[in-house]
Amino acid sequence: MNRPIVTTGQHPDERSVELAGQVAGELGSDFVPRKKRSVRKLMKEFGRPVVVAGKERYEYHTDPDVQPLFFHPGLAAIRIKRIRDGGNDAMAEACGLRAGDSFLDCTLGLATDSTVASFIVGPGGRVTGCEADPVVAYIVSHGLETYTDSPQDVLEAMRRIDVRRVEAGEWIARCPDNSFDIVYLDPMFEEAIEESAAFAPLRSAGVHGIPDDRLFEEARRVARRRVVLKAHFKSALFDRHGFMRIERPNTKFHYGILDC
Ligand SMILES: C[S@@+](CC[C@H](N)C(=O)[O-])C[C@H]1O[C@@H](n2cnc3c(N)ncnc32)[C@H](O)[C@@H]1O
Repeated sequence: MNRPIVTTGQHPDERSVELAGQVAGELGSDFVPRKKRSVRKLMKEFGRPVVVAGKERYEYHTDPDVQPLFFHPGLAAIRIKRIRDGGNDAMAEACGLRAGDSFLDCTLGLATDSTVASFIVGPGGRVTGCEADPVVAYIVSHGLETYTDSPQDVLEAMRRIDVRRVEAGEWIARCPDNSFDIVYLDPMFEEAIEESAAFAPLRSAGVHGIPDDRLFEEARRVARRRVVLKAHFKSALFDRHGFMRIERPNTKFHYGILDC
């Protein structure tokens, strides 16, 4: 990956400069004073992605023509409200999630699914999320710890997620057999889904490779109850790895389940 440079917002005070320096240190990147330059200009000048470490939020700019990636709960709060009101959630149903479960998310992304899972499994359960893109993992981890603009139980669900800045295959290989009730994979779609605007920044950042066979084998070994795959309905991964597909009329992504 092309290591980003880290800078401040347009009008930084002393604290903002300090903060951006700290973020650069934690990311193992270089701090570059903003000097009123636009992000587009910085990207062109340095030929690298740009992290803007503001006091409000951290933004990851990988493409000058795409919105930057920053942490937000996405649909998590709405999905949790629906669950609280007795409604259903397709991911939670595919996983058969219950209070007290342990859930390994191999593709954390913006942690929307993990936040919903964390709400359902509750404080007695456990959610671990692996994210292979170190900058995405850093920004999402910071957001999960510091975001405040959601109901208290959603925030508590976010705070309980254990984020691992690592490629899932590497991490899962070190997990004992049957150590998570559910292992979940939601890799980047091989096919772009145009209507999914919320994920455009992740599509521009993030890791795009299709998970290899080894990750699926390890997922099966580590899952006590079920491995769940979310993928484009045309994805060959369902058949290749023997998932039973849950058909979802009028949606472009499907869930596949593999009971252990
Ligand atoms: C489609 S997004 C996941 C979205 C997520 N389910 C959510 O609710 O926000 C896929 C994410 O998984 C990451 N990823 C892809 N392959 C990975 C792997 N082998 N290990 C860890 N992370 C991976 C990508 O960088 C990206 O952030």
